[in-house]
Amino acid sequence: MAKIINKKQIAPNIHQCEVEAPLIASKALPGQFLIAIPNEFSERTPMTISDWDTKKGTVTFIFLEIGASTEVMTKLKKGDEFYSFTGPLGKAYDVDKYGTVGLIAGCYGIGAIYPAAKAFKAKGNKVISYSEARSNFLLYWNDKLEEVSSEVRYATVDGSLGKKGHAYDLLEDDLKAGMKFDRIIAVGCSYLMYRVSQLTRPYNIKTIVSMNTVMIDGTGMCGACRLVVGNKTKFACVDGPHFDGHQVDWDIVLSRRKAYLEEEIISKERW
Ligand code: FES
Repeated sequence: MAKIINKKQIAPNIHQCEVEAPLIASKALPGQFLIAIPNEFSERTPMTISDWDTKKGTVTFIFLEIGASTEVMTKLKKGDEFYSFTGPLGKAYDVDKYGTVGLIAGCYGIGAIYPAAKAFKAKGNKVISYSEARSNFLLYWNDKLEEVSSEVRYATVDGSLGKKGHAYDLLEDDLKAGMKFDRIIAVGCSYLMYRVSQLTRPYNIKTIVSMNTVMIDGTGMCGACRLVVGNKTKFACVDGPHFDGHQVDWDIVLSRRKAYLEEEIISKERW
């Protein structure tokens, strides 16, 4: 089954989990996700695939300990098996030679842009990765990202590393300074993706956002990941998770950001 080969906390409340899943590893592409169910009583949790090793037959994902389900996952140890582990799911990034590609990430997205940086660089693009956190000690995979990017630029809210502020502030500085991009990909919280999309619109830079953040069951049945993209209803889990950030109706996305907060609190209390 899907046995945990390695699991560690890489920053406060951020965990890295490597799982034996040779079939998923053999098919995974940058931008795809998997669904992990830790035990028979826990819910389906979509996780972006951050790395994989076809020789070892393992896949790695990063998760934030934020509610009851991820707390269950945090308690799993090396050698434990997932009740269910399914993937790869969702559409992969459209990897091609564009020129200069900017990858903007925060939180779980830092792990998610790692395979994208690798793939875009291998295609001959100049890859500039932007990694953000509230503070230096909350950043992770700096070395890995630097290894596969042409350049990594950091932003921290407290100014402990790189630009004081957010990755979109740094991107704004770079765009104003005349830096050119042929494609931008943003992965992280909805607000980060919204800000990046607003920023790149006047420059007419094709901007892809990864809407994994709004998914719940990842099957197309719960409806929680419903989006309006170019005036059409889409489901992040079955039609995405990647969409043109300039076409997404962000008012709807942002208004639903805390839609399940009360249920999350109840669930955590019961757990
Ligand atoms: Fe439930 Fe997409 S996550 S329908």
